[in-house]
Amino acid sequence: MFERPLIPFLLVCSLYSVNCLIVVPERVLVRDVNENYIKYATATVRRSSKRGEYVVNVDIYNKVVIGNNVTVNINLHEYNSKYNQYVRTPMVFHYKWCELVLHDQWFGPLLRRNGLTKCPTPVGRTTLSNLTLSGSFPFQVPFNRGKFETIWKLESTNEVLGCIETFVTILK
Ligand SMILES: *[C@@H]1O[C@H](CO)[C@@H](O)[C@H](O)[C@H]1NC(C)=O
Ligand SMILES: *[C@@H]1O[C@H](CO)[C@@H](O)[C@H](O)[C@H]1NC(C)=O
Repeated sequence: MFERPLIPFLLVCSLYSVNCLIVVPERVLVRDVNENYIKYATATVRRSSKRGEYVVNVDIYNKVVIGNNVTVNINLHEYNSKYNQYVRTPMVFHYKWCELVLHDQWFGPLLRRNGLTKCPTPVGRTTLSNLTLSGSFPFQVPFNRGKFETIWKLESTNEVLGCIETFVTILK
């Protein structure tokens, strides 16, 4: 499971954090794309290189400018094998889009590394590569199978712009 590129990462991460997690994306599902605002959205799981870690790549085309009038909720769900379903946990991140893009320290770096360094985001295509959630977490995650549900909503009307579900295995 632990591919070579992960070993230096693990050493550095575990030196600095008690909640150092390896998050392996298994598959990703794009749901509820609202065609009034989003022309298309796709997401895939790939390896970052031949022996690299599994990462998520996203390709989105937004038809409207996206600023702080859009909120992003990232909810972590736990897989319950007994009932074969995903159950919401209290672990929720809630952002206004530009706060996430410009200032957030957990998910923001993934966006900024992909060139999203300005906000509002203009109309057009955005591609995000090499997305990984492995690293130090602000909380403990007491289970090893779950999904991150990321929902974009228009704040004024609560209309959903889109939702991406990333099914993961979590290793400590
Ligand atoms: C993604 O990661 C791979 C391997 O680390 C690297 O070769 C590639 O250039 C990266 N792509 C981007 C867009 O950062
Ligand atoms: C959101 O706000 C931006 C300005 O930041 C504006 O251009 C855009 O039209 C707004 N989007 C919607 C869907 O209301």
